[in-house]
Amino acid sequence: MNLEALLADRLSAALASVAGGPVDPVVRQSQHADFQSGAALALARRLGRPPREVATEVAAKADLAGLATIDVSGPGFLNLTVDDAALAAGVDALDDDRLGVPPVAAPERIVLDYSGPNAAKELQIGHLRSTIIGDALARLLEWLGHEVIRANHLGDWGTPFGMLLEHMADLGGGENEHSLGDLTDFYRAARRKFDEDTQPSVRSGAVAGRSDGGFKARARLRVVALQAGDEPTRALWRRLIEQTERTFLDAYGRLGVTLTRGDFVGESFYQEQLSSVLSELDEQGLLVPSEGALCVFPAGFAGRDGEPLPLIVRKSDGGFGYAATDLAALRHRVRTLGATRLLYVVGAPQRTHFRMVFEVARSAGWLPAGVTAEHIEFGSILGADGKMFRTRAGDNVTLGALLDEAVERASSPAIGIGAIKYADLAGDRRSDYVFDWDRMLASTGDTGPYLQYAYARIRSIFRKAGAEPGPVVLAHPAERRLALALLGFEAAVHAAAGRREPHRLASYLHDLAVAFTGFYESCPILRLAGPYRASRLTLADRTGRTLALGLSLLGIDLPEEM
Ligand code: ARG
Repeated sequence: MNLEALLADRLSAALASVAGGPVDPVVRQSQHADFQSGAALALARRLGRPPREVATEVAAKADLAGLATIDVSGPGFLNLTVDDAALAAGVDALDDDRLGVPPVAAPERIVLDYSGPNAAKELQIGHLRSTIIGDALARLLEWLGHEVIRANHLGDWGTPFGMLLEHMADLGGGENEHSLGDLTDFYRAARRKFDEDTQPSVRSGAVAGRSDGGFKARARLRVVALQAGDEPTRALWRRLIEQTERTFLDAYGRLGVTLTRGDFVGESFYQEQLSSVLSELDEQGLLVPSEGALCVFPAGFAGRDGEPLPLIVRKSDGGFGYAATDLAALRHRVRTLGATRLLYVVGAPQRTHFRMVFEVARSAGWLPAGVTAEHIEFGSILGADGKMFRTRAGDNVTLGALLDEAVERASSPAIGIGAIKYADLAGDRRSDYVFDWDRMLASTGDTGPYLQYAYARIRSIFRKAGAEPGPVVLAHPAERRLALALLGFEAAVHAAAGRREPHRLASYLHDLAVAFTGFYESCPILRLAGPYRASRLTLADRTGRTLALGLSLLGIDLPEEM
């Protein structure tokens, strides 16, 4: 039951009859009553009538029988108090797997682009947020009945592969699985060789794979060979990508992230589509040559100097870059995959990139009416010093090391990893947050362990309780608060999914756990017998189900005991 929506519905009807047309009922949770609406105030302004008079008329017309009582308060607020019987019946009814939440009436096909790490590098903390937020959204949207196509836009193509593959060839081709060793070290070694090579540029006639010429020159030839489809080079590349995919899949497994190998669609996949991206843009007259490159200048984008900002489709060296690939991917997702919604979970620094890509795609007709594209941006993870989170040595933190530390600090993987995920999901995704072990692992406060603990406590009640739950009877105010909280699940899920803001579900679950703690502290269960005991067991059961479902939608595991 979506209490908020039900009340809003009934109130809408009354507001409409007073206004003579539809009015947004803006029903909100409130300190002053269970819910409150300020709609009569706004309506009174519009009608030029005294607000209390309008509010009183709306209250008189509202049909809330069997659901709630309504009062006018202050200048003309409408206060709604839900009937205890309606609350109790609502909680009783929360006994199916979906807690009464129906799948959406109009499911969409959503391509959800998240994680997107870069090959030959280990997953860095920078990709952590995309992975965690993206996976929570994937679970949530799928559970609501949408068709979610996960797209892991792996950085598996481009100029860095020249140096990586050439280094790999120097090492003997990476024939056996572990010869590439630690990928971060491998990447660094290749980079170092590249940067330290001071030999003059390549002699004419040099060939990829031949040891004449310096490393830099050979690396450049390697890129050309890769792009030209040279088979030995392709074989090296495939081996490198496979190895990287394995390390990413390991990390996803540890993190409990639902991405599978089939969801990897790297940048390389779109390479064959790039020439037609270029030609379609050209046919539409959108391409403009600029300093040797081919660009689109979407309307409304200017650099700091006020000059129009180009989206570079083909670079001056003839190569295609990140933007061109994103245009191809977008077109593919709409045209071939038939997506009606495109979501990109990528950090805030890429805001302009995505705005430009979407704008160019719209001009090109690749985002027809009814198809939406949205950049789900998020802020950074900071260290205690307020700067980007790094190791003490100043290096990027690898995810593997982070997860090891989490498990070591907590008593189990579920708690350690749950704490990291919860900390990432609990705040508004757009904000930066400080990575703080002590805070995220605390057993009180807005933390993963606190929610897991509330759940474990409920499991332990049921291990001890011999009797069955029974119909809910509300006697104590803490029971009433808990019942109200339980009936807020559906609204929270819709708020989180609708705004692509997992923190709306996280903070709902936290409020629920707080309401449960209050109930548990003032309402004995196991010491009682009879209908109150049965009722309280039902309240505990519904809380447990809601925490379990809610946390599973966020991708957080629940230990049975803590
Ligand atoms: N590999 C990119 C990076 O590390 C992220 C990819 C995001 N997705 C996309 N379609 N551009 O910044």
